[in-house]
Amino acid sequence: MRRSTKSAASTAPKNRILRPPAFAYRRSAARQPLCLSCEKVDLQLLAERHGTPLYVYSAQTIRTRLKAYAQAFRSIPHTICYSVKANSTLAILRLVAEQGGGFDVVSGGEVERILRVQPKAASKLVFSGVGKTVPEMELALKSGILLFNVESASELRALAATAARLKKKASIAIRVNPDVSAKTHPYISTGLHQHKFGVPIPESRALYAEAARHPNLVVAGVSVHIGSQITDVGSFKDALLRVADLVRELRRTGHNIRYVDAGGGLGISYQPTADSSAPGSFANQLAAYAKAVLEPLRGLKVHLLLEPGRSIIAPAGVLVTRVVYRKTNNRKRFLIVDAAMNDLIRPSLYSAHHEIVPVSVAGSVETQLASSPDDASRHTASGDAASELTDVVGPICETGDFFARDRKLPITHEGDLLAILDTGAYGSVLGSNYNTRGRPAEILVDGTKAKVIRRRETVSDQLRQENF
Ligand code: LLP
Repeated sequence: MRRSTKSAASTAPKNRILRPPAFAYRRSAARQPLCLSCEKVDLQLLAERHGTPLYVYSAQTIRTRLKAYAQAFRSIPHTICYSVKANSTLAILRLVAEQGGGFDVVSGGEVERILRVQPKAASKLVFSGVGKTVPEMELALKSGILLFNVESASELRALAATAARLKKKASIAIRVNPDVSAKTHPYISTGLHQHKFGVPIPESRALYAEAARHPNLVVAGVSVHIGSQITDVGSFKDALLRVADLVRELRRTGHNIRYVDAGGGLGISYQPTADSSAPGSFANQLAAYAKAVLEPLRGLKVHLLLEPGRSIIAPAGVLVTRVVYRKTNNRKRFLIVDAAMNDLIRPSLYSAHHEIVPVSVAGSVETQLASSPDDASRHTASGDAASELTDVVGPICETGDFFARDRKLPITHEGDLLAILDTGAYGSVLGSNYNTRGRPAEILVDGTKAKVIRRRETVSDQLRQENF
C-alpha cells in the first residue's frame, strides 16, 4: 500500500472522504491541493477540458473485476455475459468483448450495439426480457445468438414461429421464477411469484415439453434472475437449489439441459461497511457468491452463464459535477450542482445512496491509497477542512431532483467540483433529456490515457429529431 508523506498520527483528520480504489487523491506538485484522479488522470483536468457534468470510467477497474469473476468461477465451465443494460456505451462493450466476455441483452438495440463492437461476440449473447418483439427475435436469430431466455408461453410460440419462418433453430432456456425473495429494493426485485418476470417452475415443465416438440427450438438450459443489488448471497443459493432440482427433473424426462444461466444481481457496497476496508473484499464477496451459486450445481456438469452488470461497472465510474450555487433556505443548506436527475436518476428513483466527494482537497491531508484496483474496499482520504450538513441538488424543477440529503460534506464553494461515486452502472444508461438537458460526455481512462467515448449531447442534437 502506498502512503502519504504525513503519518496518520501527524494529522488529526476531521473528515473522512470515501472513494472507490480506482479513484485516488494525488498531488500534482508540492503545496498544491490533492486532486482526485481516475487511474493516472486528474479529474479536475478532465472537467476543465471536457466540461461538466462528466462521466469518467476506469478501464482497469472493469478489466480487474471481469478477471475476478473468472477467477471465482474457475472450477466450472462458464461464460460471463456482462449485462449490457448496466452501461451500454460502445467503448465499454468493446473493452468487455476484448476480455473475452459474452453479453446479456434485453432489446434489439442492445443486440445492435454488440454487432457494432464485435459481431462475433453474438455467439456469446443471451437475450432476456419479457417483451421481445418479432423483429427483435429476427435480428437475434440472424445474428446467431447463444440463448433466448424465454419468459412466457406466448413468447415461446412467437419465437418458434419466427425461427420456422427464417429456417433457423433457436436455442432456448425458460427463465423460471423461483419465488425467492431477493431482499432488495422492490423495484429491482424480480424473483417473486407476483412479479412479471419468468415462468413459475411448475408451469415451466409443460413449456419445456412444448419447446421440445417444436423442430425449430432447441431446449438448452434453465435460466433465473431474482433481482439486482442483492448482497445476501443466501437468496442466490435458494434460487439455484430450485433451478438444480428442475435441471435434474428435466434431464430425467429427456431434455438435454447444458446451460444454467444464474442471471446477475450481485450487489456492491454503495456505503462503507464495517469490513469494507479489508483488502481484496471484492474477491471475498465474489468467493461467497460463487459458493452460493456453485454448491447447488455440484455434480450437474452444466455450463454456467452469469449476467453481472453492476458489480462489474458501478465502482468503475464517477459523475463529476460542478457546484453552481450555494443557497440557504430557512437554515437548510443546498449545493446546487450542474448535474441533475436526468443524468443520474438512482437517488430520485430508488432513494439510492451514492457517496459524494470533493475533487480537490486543500490543506494537510493523510491518504491511504488503494493497493490495487481489484480491492473493492473504500479507502479514505482525510482532510482537515471543516464540514457542513447540506443537500446536493440539481437544477431541475422537481423536489425529487437530488443526489444527497442532509449529507455531511467538506465545506464546498461555488465553482468547486464534486464526484458522485459508484455511478458506472445504471447512470448514463438511465439518462434522459428532461428539461432539454443534453446527456453528459463520457470519458474512459486507461492508465495515463483519457478518451472521449461519448461526446456531450448538444441542444441541436436533440432538436434535429423533431419537426414542427
Ligand atoms: N440479467 C437480467 C435478466 C437483469 O434483468 C439484470 C438487471 C441483470 C442481469 C444485471 O443485474 P446486475 O448484475 O446489474 O444487478 N436500474 C436499477 C437496476 C435494474 C436492474 C435490472 N436488471 C438500479 O439502478 O439499481
